[in-house]
Amino acid sequence: LTPQDLAGETVLVTAGPTREEIDPVRYITNRSSGKMGYAIARAARLRGARVTLVSGPTCLPVPRGVELVRVGSAVEMREAVLPRADGAGIIFKAAAVADYRPTVRASQKLKKGKDDLSRIELERNPDILAELGRLPGGRVLVGFAAETDELEANATAKLSAKNLDLIVANDVTREDVGFDVDTNEVRLFFADGRRLDLAKMSKFELAGELLDQALALKKQKTGTA
Ligand code: PMT
Repeated sequence: LTPQDLAGETVLVTAGPTREEIDPVRYITNRSSGKMGYAIARAARLRGARVTLVSGPTCLPVPRGVELVRVGSAVEMREAVLPRADGAGIIFKAAAVADYRPTVRASQKLKKGKDDLSRIELERNPDILAELGRLPGGRVLVGFAAETDELEANATAKLSAKNLDLIVANDVTREDVGFDVDTNEVRLFFADGRRLDLAKMSKFELAGELLDQALALKKQKTGTA
């Protein structure tokens, strides 16, 4: 039987990519199948948590018992996440959020020849995780870092810049790790300087490990350890 050690806990998870529309038929996106975030949502629900999953477009089935909020763009993801942060004790931000969006979304399909499709003006999207990191409160904030190089330096920079409790870094140059696949191998970097290298495992097993770590951090924060 699965232990119900997350009963009474509210877990908010983001997953999948965001889509930043150029016109009705084109968009800019980031790579992400949503598998990592959906695995966390499913594992948390099985351990008794109340789970909300804010998801960009994916082809995955909704985990049983999980509240799903579908979003398209980063701005929509922010609007779904921020109002729910207050009620959440643990937040996992596994989504691959596009850092930029087109300044203008054309209402009609842009035409080759007539419109200049060789240049698209972009503007910054909000950094949802950084905003969460600035909120007061005793929740545990877990970010992800998809890196191709300088994994440790890039991940630890995000950990401190976004004021996280924990960052989960994956090397997305590997074919058996990161995007799309059912397995992942990650390095964990904690705000208190601890680090932990985990072996390669299924994303569902990893979800269990991450929930263990987040729950321990939550107990530390609330003084119930
Ligand atoms: O979905 P899968 O196919 O299973 O793949 C899983 C994954 C590789 C996408 C996942 O494990 C992962 O690494 N997710 C984070 C990818 C990413 O966008 O990393 P980043 O280094 O760009 O962002 C760092 C953190 O800030 C992330 O937690 C991200 O959700 C958050 N962020 C980033 C930009 C932004 N504008 N807002 C954010 O909240």
